[in-house]
Amino acid sequence: MASLLVCIGSSCHLKGSYNVIQTFQQMVEEYDLHDQVEMKAQFCMKRCQQGVSVSLDGVDYDVSPQTAREFFITHILQNRPTP
Ligand code: FES
Repeated sequence: MASLLVCIGSSCHLKGSYNVIQTFQQMVEEYDLHDQVEMKAQFCMKRCQQGVSVSLDGVDYDVSPQTAREFFITHILQNRPTP
């Protein structure tokens, strides 16, 4: 199961973390990934100078509301195990 953390600290909130979470939740629904993606909100991840801070299985990324869908496709959909 992929562990996806999204920062909801004040800086990331201002950059659109709420919209990033909404996008990820929609995609989990759309692709029925409830048993493959565990998503959690996290307070400041100490990378406030970047975009919205996201951590996927311990690897840090910067995302924005505009790139969230592409991030999800590239890093989660295309990397999920084939049945
Ligand atoms: S508020 Fe998100 S990294 Fe600091």
